[in-house]
Amino acid sequence: MPTQASPHHVKVHARHRSAKDAPLREDEGDYASIEEAREAAAGCRRCPLWRDATQMVFGEGRETAEVVFVGEQPGDQEDIAGKPFVGPAGRVFDAILDEAGIARQKTYVTNAVKHFKFEPRGKRRIHSKPNAGEIKACRWWLDHELSLVGPKLAVALGATAAQSLLGKAVAVTKMRGRTIEREDGLRVFLTVHPSFILRIRDEADKEAERGRFLEDLKAVKALME
Ligand code: URA
Repeated sequence: MPTQASPHHVKVHARHRSAKDAPLREDEGDYASIEEAREAAAGCRRCPLWRDATQMVFGEGRETAEVVFVGEQPGDQEDIAGKPFVGPAGRVFDAILDEAGIARQKTYVTNAVKHFKFEPRGKRRIHSKPNAGEIKACRWWLDHELSLVGPKLAVALGATAAQSLLGKAVAVTKMRGRTIEREDGLRVFLTVHPSFILRIRDEADKEAERGRFLEDLKAVKALME
């Protein structure tokens, strides 16, 4: 029903405009809650990605979660919805998370970079990988999310998340399934990004990769217990 879809869109864009018009808040980062951090982040200009994105997509989930999942950056659908992992990669993630016996609502899900980076191609917006500067700039928000939530474990979904969480580039496909302890004691579990599974054309390969991702998420579940 178009009458349902369009008001939502109008609302999103209205919110987007007001967030961008708001003056940049130079704060100290003393946020008392995720909600406060999310509000401050809405006006973020720490890197240029805010200019073309619809809105900042902050993390969401349980504020006392034992596990935080970190993706790369919002995609096209997340940029419009203002929520992480609600598009095609999110659906793969949700299905396998469920199979692994992890309830998404008990976790906190976020991204290393919180604005959608893309190249326009006709009417489409094609995902473009965030660079090291953008990852570093956005780490301010990820660090705050981690200190507010205080998880036992962070799961890096792919190389961008691993780079943000560990402060250096990591060969995720070689290191997947491993847990690295950071200097601050946070354990970081490494795995691939669910969109990696989506991109595989061969059905048998796709199924095999899905199975490996499921094994990784089962290992995450075991580490949570
Ligand atoms: N890919 C990500 O890394 N994060 C999202 O939120 C969606 C797709």
